[in-house]
Amino acid sequence: MVEPFSQSFLIEGRNFLNAGKASTEIKSILKQLGVNAAFIRRVAIAAYEAEMNVVMYARKAKMTFQVTPQVIKILVNDEGPGIPDIERAMREGYSTATPEMREMGFGAGMGLPNIKRNSDDFTIESEVGKGTQLGITINIS
Ligand SMILES: Nc1ncnc2c1ncn2[C@@H]1O[C@H](COP(=O)(O)OP(=O)(O)OP(=O)(O)O)[C@@H](O)[C@H]1O
Ligand SMILES: [Mg+2]
Repeated sequence: MVEPFSQSFLIEGRNFLNAGKASTEIKSILKQLGVNAAFIRRVAIAAYEAEMNVVMYARKAKMTFQVTPQVIKILVNDEGPGIPDIERAMREGYSTATPEMREMGFGAGMGLPNIKRNSDDFTIESEVGKGTQLGITINIS
């Protein structure tokens, strides 16, 4: 049985130096908790894509990571421009990444679809001018 665990991370927009650190930490915690590798992989992909979207598009975010014996949850609450058309943002290939971001290998427009694919439950809410909230749930039992 996996022990309950909870931790929050602050993610800074535009900070490409620290980008990916929260999701790397989440991955290592899940390994220590003895979570099955296939679940860890799905969580790591979803967490990384959510974290990078904050770095690229938002000002900052609080990422909360919760583990119970049944589920792993990642909640991301950002302050940023929000997403005007969520349905369009969810489409594979849609991206507003800048040329600089594309040069770094981002901007395929696959992040949100990949988060959804790797989640058992996925919610996204956004308010233009305020920010975006993601809820990612992965069942582990
Ligand atoms: N947290 C966010 N705040 C504001 N806009 C966002 C946020 N996350 C995603 N978006 C918008 O949704 C679009 C699609 O996001 P998605 O992660 O699918 O692709 P991407 O980040 O552009 O490229 P990739 O993830 O493949 O590198 C983004 O280009 C951006 O316009
Ligand atoms: Mg992305």
